[in-house]
Amino acid sequence: MTSLGIGLIGTGYMGKCHALAWNAVAAVFGDVARPRLAVLAEHSQELADRKAQELGFARATGDWRTLVADPAVDVVSITTPNAFHPEMAIAALEAGKHVWCEKPMATRLPDAERMLAAAHASGKVAALGYNYIQNPIIRLIQRLLDEGEIGDVNHVRLEMDEDFMADPEALFYWKSEATSGHGALDDFGVHALSLIRVLFGGVRRVCGHMAKPYADRPVQGGGRRAVETYDIATTLIELESGASGVIALNRSAWGRKGRIAVQLFGSKGTIVYDQERMNEVQLYTVGGPKETQGFRTILTGPQHPPYDKFIPAPGHGLGFNDLKIIECRELIRRIDGEAAHLITFEDGIRIERTVDAMARSAHEGRWVEVAAGHGTGAA
Ligand SMILES: NC(=O)c1ccc[n+]([C@@H]2O[C@H](COP(=O)([O-])OP(=O)(O)OC[C@H]3O[C@@H](n4cnc5c(N)ncnc54)[C@H](O)[C@@H]3O)[C@@H](O)[C@H]2O)c1
Repeated sequence: MTSLGIGLIGTGYMGKCHALAWNAVAAVFGDVARPRLAVLAEHSQELADRKAQELGFARATGDWRTLVADPAVDVVSITTPNAFHPEMAIAALEAGKHVWCEKPMATRLPDAERMLAAAHASGKVAALGYNYIQNPIIRLIQRLLDEGEIGDVNHVRLEMDEDFMADPEALFYWKSEATSGHGALDDFGVHALSLIRVLFGGVRRVCGHMAKPYADRPVQGGGRRAVETYDIATTLIELESGASGVIALNRSAWGRKGRIAVQLFGSKGTIVYDQERMNEVQLYTVGGPKETQGFRTILTGPQHPPYDKFIPAPGHGLGFNDLKIIECRELIRRIDGEAAHLITFEDGIRIERTVDAMARSAHEGRWVEVAAGHGTGAA
């Protein structure tokens, strides 16, 4: 067990989440060397210094390229806005570092393809931040599907909704800029596709629609600016398995806080899950007396690994940040050359190709085939 040196770029919402994971992974799992929190980068030295103090990093820099070149760094966590991912990930891989990059991989497919090429050339581990697949309940769903508990799945419906952009008077920020990607597709669609990827594999073709609920937003300091991204996206999908499906995304959905509603309909039953109630799953299976048929609720507990690493008692619940700690453990597993439940750049490119097809379909108003790829699926 060698201790990994960690570099963290960005300290916002996900930067803190990565920092918590690096701080906690050894304590939670007890079977990995405690990572060394080596260098933290922010856009200014002053902010980097303050955040390094708060998050426990030894050194700080206002220039991410200094972090990437630092010999004390083995793994680079990239938690900056989407537009920075390709440049930072490729530089880190070229410097011989492992990379843990937040989703989406990139905002344009050609950039994601360049990132994949850099990962191949480096021979280093390049993983993406798809924390929702790490929920023990999602692993249980995977098992239920593998064991045929609901028979052949013929229809999947995934909805992801939040309301952080629901207020028409919310300030224009990077998520409304075209440099951040298409909008809801890159922000939410990739998460829905990460779940489809681990539960079913690939998507064969898509027929999409995108919408802008608000044409412009106020700008800090005065005036308004035209919104360049689509906060709403709805896509019909056909899986490689032959199942049909719908992915509906809305980041302007008042009242929805962290909804990822998954409904999987099979020939012998139905599975229902919602990230807003992330510690439970609803299972309906046919059979038994009609009077007592219905969905039953299964709560997470130590019998759903790796819940047991966090809490010995069932029903007490994991949280969002815990999923990142699990993902961190899987990343270390992969760096150690073991099989891991992780979406690497190889698998992530399939998600990016699907998003690209969804956006093209929406613009062209027709079904679009998803480009074939070489991804291997999360192992
Ligand atoms: N996996 C998930 O569940 C999840 C959730 C939210 C966000 N994300 C992803 O995480 C990424 C960051 O999103 P966020 O919500 O944390 O954004 P954020 O705005 O909260 O944080 C971004 C951070 O990057 C820093 N930064 C910007 N430019 C920089 C530079 N040149 N050098 C160093 N630091 C710089 C900012 O100062 C800020 O601290 C996005 O790609 C987003 O899609 C993933």
